[in-house]
Amino acid sequence: MEMKSFQMANDNKPISPNFILPEDKRPQLSQISSLASVPVIDFNDGPSALVQKISQACEEYGFFQIINHGVPEELCAKTMAAITQFFGLPPEERAEFSTQDHTKRVKLFNYFLKLEGQEKVSMWSETFSHPWHPADDFTHFLPKNPPNYGEAFAEYAKEMGGLMNRLLSLISQGLGLEKDCLRKRLGDTPRLNAQSNFYPPCPDPELTLGLAVHTDLGAVTVLRQAEGVSGLQVIKDGKWVAVDPVPNAFVINLGDQIQVLSNGRFKSVHHRAVTNKAQPRVSLAMFYAPDMDAVIGPIEDLIDEEHPPTYRNYRYAEFLEEFYRQEGTRRMAKEAFLLSQ
Ligand code: OGA
Ligand code: NI
Repeated sequence: MEMKSFQMANDNKPISPNFILPEDKRPQLSQISSLASVPVIDFNDGPSALVQKISQACEEYGFFQIINHGVPEELCAKTMAAITQFFGLPPEERAEFSTQDHTKRVKLFNYFLKLEGQEKVSMWSETFSHPWHPADDFTHFLPKNPPNYGEAFAEYAKEMGGLMNRLLSLISQGLGLEKDCLRKRLGDTPRLNAQSNFYPPCPDPELTLGLAVHTDLGAVTVLRQAEGVSGLQVIKDGKWVAVDPVPNAFVINLGDQIQVLSNGRFKSVHHRAVTNKAQPRVSLAMFYAPDMDAVIGPIEDLIDEEHPPTYRNYRYAEFLEEFYRQEGTRRMAKEAFLLSQ
């Protein structure tokens, strides 16, 4: 498959129509609130304050940023540089990874939006996705260029393993559960994918999106944003709020599986990426999703007379099937498992 080549921002030609969103789907950038954003949480806070802050953020925002997380800044910089270099390779060199086959575990592709009765609209981005663990199974399939890509990812993945466990433990405690409750529920062989997003500068950010409005389908996402370039926005009380990069922070958000496991108490919140005229933007999302065979449903301890189960139990493989059935639409996979009240 051939990758689309993006126009330069200083190019005066109009944007190719297959990137232009219908009017009601455009980002309306002038209406973005820059006042409030998601909480920034210091991981050096004491354990009980940390559990309380995270729990509140998960209920109110579904998103937060963390600082003083212990992941070395140089390692993050090295990994982000490797991704940036990969996206900077000539399109022919990246093309060996290009596919629209979602069953491939290592893949370079473009997201799109499929609107009823209309042509697909391409997102103003390129996405590269591959597993981040277990390392031995996939190292062989990673880019050989830049030469340190595999090494940077292996080190980064190790740090992410620790951070994910810490987060899952804190989120479990925030729900009043045992520390290892969520990790156990998500299963022994979680699906661990990395997704790098590259957003070239766009001549007209009002007409395009970098990533369409979506929720993350897994359990927890740890996102690194390149410093100094904004783009991520999340819904808060019906309004779009920018989540601007904070130096050496990670953006954490909950995916659909935590919303279901927590019986709706913790939220998997809609978000999107917008484009900008001035600079390219790179982000790296590390996903922690359940084992394919894990049975996901509201945790019994969170169900009582006042909180009847909102979702039915399902195997994660079943959820993924539903998710891909809805590809390109404003996905509502978890809604397919809602119980009628
Ligand atoms: C994602 C995502 C946001 C960003 O990869 O799922 O939401 O800022 N990325 O790139
Ligand atoms: Ni996302």
